[in-house]
Amino acid sequence: MNKKIIIANWKANPSTTVEAEKIFSSVSDSLNNLGQEMDIIICPPFIYLKSLSKIESDLKLGAQDVFWENSGPYTGEITPNMIKNLNIDYVLAGHSERRYKLGETDEIVNKKIKALLKNNLIPIFFFGEKDKTGDKESFIKNQLQHGLDGLNSEEIRKIIFAYEPVWAISTSENPKPATPDDLNDAIVILKKVIGDDAKVIYGGSVNGQNVGDFASVSGVSGVAVGGASLDPEQFAKIINTLDYKTK
Ligand code: PGA
Repeated sequence: MNKKIIIANWKANPSTTVEAEKIFSSVSDSLNNLGQEMDIIICPPFIYLKSLSKIESDLKLGAQDVFWENSGPYTGEITPNMIKNLNIDYVLAGHSERRYKLGETDEIVNKKIKALLKNNLIPIFFFGEKDKTGDKESFIKNQLQHGLDGLNSEEIRKIIFAYEPVWAISTSENPKPATPDDLNDAIVILKKVIGDDAKVIYGGSVNGQNVGDFASVSGVSGVAVGGASLDPEQFAKIINTLDYKTK
């Protein structure tokens, strides 16, 4: 069986290093009795990566974003080699908040994914339709095809695909988690674009109650968690449920 993957996307939280260390350590302490090996990847704001990397833990770290060049006159940017030099392997790409709140286009996402692969970093590529109604298949196909433009199948196999419909994110207007059927439909579309051996996780209002339903969908390797990942008790529940359900 595939190794399970859980992504914790802290977004722009918390406000201090002390709080970040506290959340990280509480989650880490709750990992004692895991029944299987899992990749649990905490993605805090850049500024906390270094101090969190010094805490001994089975948790892994990921960055929430990256620039596509390795150095140069790009004020404010964090580059792939800076991340790699912190011994971090995972980076989020194409998250809907960056697309729709910060104007990131498919072309930018594509450049970032290429830069990550070139620097031996693993992209976690977020995709998913913006509205619940509409032509989901063509929206997703278009997003995937542009995001993966120019990559060969060996490169595509290294990517973790996170299906996250925007309408299901806990901070969207009237959020509603997707159903296992929605997830299954997205996997069918993904497979049409990239073939059978895609590594897929689900994100969007995942919590301790619903994680088992998503984990039970065939072909799903895990989940991406936003809001609930900042609450160590909730997050531990998600980890343990996934561990139990997929043993
Ligand atoms: P949520 O966020 O779990 O709070 O819905 C998920 C995400 O945006 O990655």
